[in-house]
Amino acid sequence: MILGIETSCDETSVALLDSDGTVRVNLIASQIERHRPFGGVVPEIASREHLQHLFPLVSRALDDAHASWGDIEKIAVTAGPGLIGALLVGVAGAQGLSYALGVPLIAVNHLEGHLFSPYLQRDGASVPLPDRFLSLVISGGHSSIYDVRGGEVTMLNRTRDDAIGETFDKVAKFIGLPYPGGPQIEQHALAGKIDRDRFAFPMPQFKDPSVDFSYSGIKAEAIRIARQQKIRIDGDPRALSDFCATFQEALFAQLFDRLDTIWSTLRKPMPTEVVMAGGVAANGTLRDKMTAWGERRGVIVRLPEKRYCTDNAAMIAFAGLQRTAVAGDPRRVTARSRVA
Ligand code: KG4
Ligand code: ZN
Repeated sequence: MILGIETSCDETSVALLDSDGTVRVNLIASQIERHRPFGGVVPEIASREHLQHLFPLVSRALDDAHASWGDIEKIAVTAGPGLIGALLVGVAGAQGLSYALGVPLIAVNHLEGHLFSPYLQRDGASVPLPDRFLSLVISGGHSSIYDVRGGEVTMLNRTRDDAIGETFDKVAKFIGLPYPGGPQIEQHALAGKIDRDRFAFPMPQFKDPSVDFSYSGIKAEAIRIARQQKIRIDGDPRALSDFCATFQEALFAQLFDRLDTIWSTLRKPMPTEVVMAGGVAANGTLRDKMTAWGERRGVIVRLPEKRYCTDNAAMIAFAGLQRTAVAGDPRRVTARSRVA
């Protein structure tokens, strides 16, 4: 059994997975309520909360899985990127446990965790990794498309400024919606209609030939429009819903614009699957759009369960398993992996 530990941001999470990747237990102690009054994550509070919750959560995970300390064969922990104080709590805890139990410790890149999360096994059903797939990692801190080929990870693009989730959060905060803003905007958008004449958000293009993302232009325009048209949580509810629907649509349009361009430049053998991961992948409207995209292209689209989209330790343990898969297995993540 592998123990996974995730403390990179504002969720303390602990998971136990069988060696075939089946999730036995995945516990998450969310700190959202503690950070909400500040409109974003306060690093010092995050570290202290992790310190308080980590070990009780490990004990509870063992109880829930009807397992004991001796059943832990290895430990995977998020080593970065993330808030340094928060990461340190998880890493130090994992090091201590690894030493005490005499089991190996695997340092996992948080993005690798998201990247493979659509392949997490549920209910014991096997989801094998294909030889080549594209993974869109879209979260509060990252927006990138990766090409995963024979277990080797290559980053194809990234954001030049804000991440997509960060853009959701910052615009939501400006109009008075509580943190985290993504799910809030999604909810309001459901009641609204897309009106590009009223809210004209830009589609960024660069002078150089690049498929990078850029969200700061949409963010600045959204804030300008919201200020000018008095879009507020306590303002006209229709205007708020329409604004959210059009804003969200513009964020997603850029995702698909870049995905289309990347797809058209790939050489054979083409990826057989496209997957989405990270907090923004929990967005229902985006999930429907992605599924439709796959149907148009004849590509399998794999979406992680919503509980595996936002930060969780199951995905960290799963990435740890991929790393330590038998040498020679093409699905393992090699030392050459470049997940930035
Ligand atoms: O992956 P995650 O939990 O943490 C990071 O690694 O960043 O992602 C959190 C981000 C936040 O920006 C949050 O607003 C966004 O994911 N998010 C969503 C939704 N649920 C979470 N964005 C849009 N729609 C959602 N339903
Ligand atoms: Zn994350």
